[in-house]
Amino acid sequence: MSGHKTDATPAAPPRKVPAAKIQFLPEDRAWIADRIQEVLATGQLTLGKYGAEFEQKFAQFCGVRHAVAVNSGTSSLEIILRALGVEGKDVLVPTNTFFATAAAVVHAGARPVLVDTDPESFAVRPEDVEAALTPKTAGIVVVHIGGIVSRRIGALQELARKKGLWLVEDAAHAHGSSFNGVRAGAFGIAGSFSFYPTKVMTSGEGGMIATSDDRIAEEARIYRDQGKASFTQNAHTRMGYNWRMSEPHAIIGLKHLERLPAMIADRQKIAAIYDQGLKEFRNLDRLQVPAGGVCNYYKYIVVLKEKRDRKALKATLREQYGVSLAGEVYEDPLHKQPIFEKYLTRALPVSEDYCARHLCLPVFSGMEEADARQVLDALKKVIG
Ligand SMILES: Cc1ncc(COP(=O)(O)O)c(C=O)c1O
Repeated sequence: MSGHKTDATPAAPPRKVPAAKIQFLPEDRAWIADRIQEVLATGQLTLGKYGAEFEQKFAQFCGVRHAVAVNSGTSSLEIILRALGVEGKDVLVPTNTFFATAAAVVHAGARPVLVDTDPESFAVRPEDVEAALTPKTAGIVVVHIGGIVSRRIGALQELARKKGLWLVEDAAHAHGSSFNGVRAGAFGIAGSFSFYPTKVMTSGEGGMIATSDDRIAEEARIYRDQGKASFTQNAHTRMGYNWRMSEPHAIIGLKHLERLPAMIADRQKIAAIYDQGLKEFRNLDRLQVPAGGVCNYYKYIVVLKEKRDRKALKATLREQYGVSLAGEVYEDPLHKQPIFEKYLTRALPVSEDYCARHLCLPVFSGMEEADARQVLDALKKVIG
């Protein structure tokens, strides 16, 4: 070993900004644990009072008449589609969405027809929907990507009405988001929510059907419980499944629903820092929330002006600056997924371009201002 001394102290490793984090406050964990103790003691472990309370409060939150709790967002979509009787028909679905949106259409016995992306909202444009209609189209599933409700949602509703189709919302990203005072879940005949742990609120696993349609609500209750005509009868009248939500999941969901406004406010605070800080960036655009819209910031989406090697860029941000970016929405459009290639009926160039060029910045409840500033500094160095 040389006796040579140097003044250079190694640079401190950057503090880490995770891509996402789940927040359950200590008092909320205690509240949940107490009620789980209660249901374990009583044995009332499914379809009980907590599920019913979760449904009632969730319906009220969305501004609809009914909510039906189920075990995932995927099952809530499939149940809605089954209740609408899609078997043998076509259902228009954005190509820029999660696997489950189109998979639910297939599981319900219909054919998904994939629609290109609106660069402004990452959802679908009425023109593209109209161009994709087929003689067998029964309805349209819209997805509020990243928690943004498109400003064109009214035009999509109008198009559906004019063509005699239904509109269903896959609102898995959009708990608490709204446009012109209407909450996600209340725009179509029914809305589907997911409470998967990455979402803005969670029940561990779970999903919810929101609807003001009495018949769909009634059908959903039948479908989720093995197609039984009612809880007390054993006549199976529909091809249902075990899609029930357990009481422990409902208890977790109830508490997170109560925290939802505060958790969204936290995310909005971080988004406001990004909005301000990103204004001076020349190499990327922010996906903007439209006037009249409220976003829950499930994702904070930016679009690179030029395509870059996203994997390498994410690795640099993580390894050199301690910043982990969140998962994309989506990395690839559905028609690039091997299982859905066969549903491609037209070129969908916008989705391919925007899927490849966007990034999702970290945003979560409990994230600190200093974290957001670190993200901005890192982006400035890596993207400029
Ligand atoms: C757009 C979208 N639809 C459906 C789902 C499916 O929800 P789940 O994972 O609860 O089945 C998800 C999320 O996972 C989603 O992001």
